[in-house]
Amino acid sequence: MATAKSTKTTTKTTAKTTKKSQTTNKNIKKILFVASESTPFIATGGLAEVIGSLSKALSDTKKFDVSVVIPLFSDIKREYRDKFTYLGNIYVHLAWRNQYCGIFSYIKDGVTFYFIDNEYYFKRPGCYGYFDDGERFAFFSKCVLEIMPFLNFYPDVMHCHDWQAALAAIYLKTNYCFREEYQFIRALFTIHNIEYQGQYSLDLLCDLFDIFGEYRYLVEYKDSINLMKGAIECSERFSTVSPRYAQEIKEAYFAHGLEDIVRRNEFKLKGILNGIDDVGYNCATDSHLFANFTPDDFSNKAVCKKELQKMLSLPQNPDTPIISMVSRLVSHKGLDLVTAVIEEVLQDDVQVVILGTGDAHFEGYFRDLARRYPNKLSANIVFNGDLSRKIYSGSDIFLMPSKSEPCGLSQMIACRYGTVPIVRETGGLYDSIKPLENGYTFTNYNAHDMLYVIRQAISDYKNKQEWAKLMHRAATTDFSWGHSAKDYEALYYDMLK
Ligand code: GLC
Repeated sequence: MATAKSTKTTTKTTAKTTKKSQTTNKNIKKILFVASESTPFIATGGLAEVIGSLSKALSDTKKFDVSVVIPLFSDIKREYRDKFTYLGNIYVHLAWRNQYCGIFSYIKDGVTFYFIDNEYYFKRPGCYGYFDDGERFAFFSKCVLEIMPFLNFYPDVMHCHDWQAALAAIYLKTNYCFREEYQFIRALFTIHNIEYQGQYSLDLLCDLFDIFGEYRYLVEYKDSINLMKGAIECSERFSTVSPRYAQEIKEAYFAHGLEDIVRRNEFKLKGILNGIDDVGYNCATDSHLFANFTPDDFSNKAVCKKELQKMLSLPQNPDTPIISMVSRLVSHKGLDLVTAVIEEVLQDDVQVVILGTGDAHFEGYFRDLARRYPNKLSANIVFNGDLSRKIYSGSDIFLMPSKSEPCGLSQMIACRYGTVPIVRETGGLYDSIKPLENGYTFTNYNAHDMLYVIRQAISDYKNKQEWAKLMHRAATTDFSWGHSAKDYEALYYDMLK
């Protein structure tokens, strides 16, 4: 494979010695994250942020030797690839296939990242959305187990995230369960979003997924293969990214058909709220902002607001509250509610800023609205990390009315920048935002309930003193990984008993 050839300098022996020297202390437990994406290398959403920041937080405790394995997608930037070390290659069987698997590694902030290289599967733009995604992630999952003997590295806990890594847990407890070295590895499966389950035709069971017939019952669900169901069944524990979501997915409304499986396995379910990278999202140091400020001195937030208004061609009025949304423009993010009442909101003295891409229907709707209300609404139908931070810091109110939200990171980021969130009480939004303590909430998925709360916030905004206190409380809410890393720690130790 041509990928990162220039770095092919290190030998297999080095790979083994590096890993061995890290794991001599028996009290240090070895955790291996298996996921499809991780910051800073490749990110399409919140999953990547969690993998990148949780792995570091766990490693910082010094109680764990943390490694992460992801595919070597061709979208991983050259600036990173050039630093990766080539450890060697093996061939991996997936049913009748026998495929090349190159292994690269890179150590960042104490965490060892492994990258699985195969250009046939991963040299494509983006991460997902191909007809053979099932095969691509089956191959990836198989590689995760096959590289263990190569690296001479067997984790105590293999922590798999979302359906793309589900097969790693399934293979561990099926095809590999009679191999001695694998017998003490515990599997934890984390659901970041139950909507995406990895469902395939049962015809593919042996031929593509390489699952032996006797294990069919583990992955079969409602006449299909369901990889998320399989991982729930096979893992010692499974978890969600907020406590509330762990409760919600027992109900049909949230579970996208998996409620029976969740309920049956409830005894091994735990909800742990995500944290955020509070160093990366820090209003005092973030270089993307027009000006930096602190929760004790918000005066420069006014500069951020003014410059944002200027950049987006909105009137530079400091007293008009800016309501922002940084979101994928899809229905479950609550856009049906927004489109139902936004024109009523725009009757007030407000400005609305939208950032994100998604369904053509919503993209067109907001573009049209911006044309009709040029002085009040700015629609930025792009994915732009720099602009997102300028919006988080320059606006006053952040709207996130999701229909369901496993955790959600944006409401926490908004808080960190002193922007007060309005959220619907669901999943991680419920767990992270408390009414009047650090934001506004509404219960029912109802556009006029949301409108009522938006109007309440607009009215409260006029009371400068009280609003400043609310901003301060929002900006000082502890969203660091501290608490959650402890919860994961407890969960891992419990699994290893
Ligand atoms: C998924 C969820 C989101 C969560 C993120 C990280 O993207 O939809 O709510 O914050 O994963 O766990």
